[in-house]
Amino acid sequence: MKLPNMLDAKKRDKNKEVINYKYENVKIDKTLVGKKYFVRTYGCQMNEHDGERIKGILSNQGLIETEEMKEADLIILNTCAIRENAHDKVFGFMGLIKKMKEDRPDLLVGICGCMAQEESVVDVIMSKYKYVDFVFGTHNIDNMINVINERVKSNKQNIEVYSINGNVCEDMPVRRDSKYTAWVDIIYGCDKFCTYCIVPYTRGTQRSRKREDIISEVEKLKEEGYKEVTLLGQNVNAYGKDLYSDYTLANLLRDVSKTNIDRIRFVTSHPWDFTEDMINAISECDNVMPYVHLPIQSGSNRILKLMGRRYTKEEYLTLYNKIREKVKGVSITTDIIVGFPSESEEDFEETLDIVNTCKFDGAYTFIFSPREGTPASKLEDNTPISVKEERLQRLNKLVNQYSNLSNKNEVGKIHKCLVLGLSEKDDSKYMGYTENMKLVNIESEEDIIGKIVDVEIETAKSFSLDGVYKK
Ligand code: SAH
Ligand code: SF4
Ligand code: F3S
Repeated sequence: MKLPNMLDAKKRDKNKEVINYKYENVKIDKTLVGKKYFVRTYGCQMNEHDGERIKGILSNQGLIETEEMKEADLIILNTCAIRENAHDKVFGFMGLIKKMKEDRPDLLVGICGCMAQEESVVDVIMSKYKYVDFVFGTHNIDNMINVINERVKSNKQNIEVYSINGNVCEDMPVRRDSKYTAWVDIIYGCDKFCTYCIVPYTRGTQRSRKREDIISEVEKLKEEGYKEVTLLGQNVNAYGKDLYSDYTLANLLRDVSKTNIDRIRFVTSHPWDFTEDMINAISECDNVMPYVHLPIQSGSNRILKLMGRRYTKEEYLTLYNKIREKVKGVSITTDIIVGFPSESEEDFEETLDIVNTCKFDGAYTFIFSPREGTPASKLEDNTPISVKEERLQRLNKLVNQYSNLSNKNEVGKIHKCLVLGLSEKDDSKYMGYTENMKLVNIESEEDIIGKIVDVEIETAKSFSLDGVYKK
């Protein structure tokens, strides 16, 4: 039993070395071999990739994945803590789980991911959700089997969460969701401590994987037939800072590019760490895709300062324009928070202004959600929720106008698309992504799944394009 502690999670010990170790195979309790498991993931791409590792470890132990929760003997909820509604989804689900446990007392239920790293959540699990069998955190996925075994042996709720800087574990088994596109972690954790954000508390300190480990993973993926890798981190632009004196994301992009994998993407970029050399690397390497997700959060310098974002809107704009100028055909998307404590109508209008200036290809917009233990959760917040909701609607209207415009600009052009499968809305069509990350529903006579093909764009919708495969 080990419980999370938010004060420890906040500490950053610069002298403490990050331990880089290899995954150690531990055998699961033999009563579970051959049983069915179900994993549900709630969070960001890094969380999704963690889910793929959880599945990899379980499958490696002889358990069988099922998509049907009802038939599972083991259910794991891989949670997200970024906003209250992420919490609500998981707690909402717990009612159903409780009923399932009543009918089938042998069912094992575990919670992991970012919520598991929160003290208050674990308190609630211990007091209200006693039927949750085990909890592990983001720092000990590699130890999951031991956590489960301990629960089986003791027959008691087992909670094992560490609030530590974090280490780097290599060679964990992974069961990837796609055969063509793969996530590759390059940097874990975050040291930015934006005042609203829980991630530095749930994911530990910023720590890079060794470049040779990343490159050999990409080489292996290429051999296995993967067409695309997405390099992942809460802030990929900080890559290497903790590990090397002169090796950055720019160097890594160039080296990963040399593997000749067809497509390389990277998310997310913090504007603060974005150097000219990185822009050059993106524009020089043909297989580095022209797509940048560059969260701005607000257009008001006063709010940006309160958020601890470390840039002004002018600095953001300079960077934004440089990327637009240098990277041919680039798409730039962003994240925006409305209703940050003390945000006035004028502050909000500055956000609308910057959206009008940048004309983003897309934007993810959120209402500020106070997170446990973060500085922003302690700020006075007088804006009524109805005003925040109204601001969000105004913002969304504007943002959609520009994503529409950006989609319309693609009509008549031929785009290279990586086709990932059948279209979700219409299974007589295929779906894929352009180099600049636009979703396209594609008409084709022949099966083009898993291929990179030329597609002529015929019509633009708000969030997707329609096109025809050109032989
Ligand atoms: N590492 C990424 C962001 C990860 S979280 C970055 O720095 O860009 C994704 C987005 O969720 C953030 O960009 C932010 O817009 C939003 N977000 C984070 N914390 C939030 C909070 N407390 N309330 C509302 N939105 C939040
Ligand atoms: Fe959160 Fe800021 Fe780190 Fe992004 S950079 S994960 S918003 S603290
Ligand atoms: Fe959520 Fe944790 Fe990702 S809080 S957004 S799952 S890092």
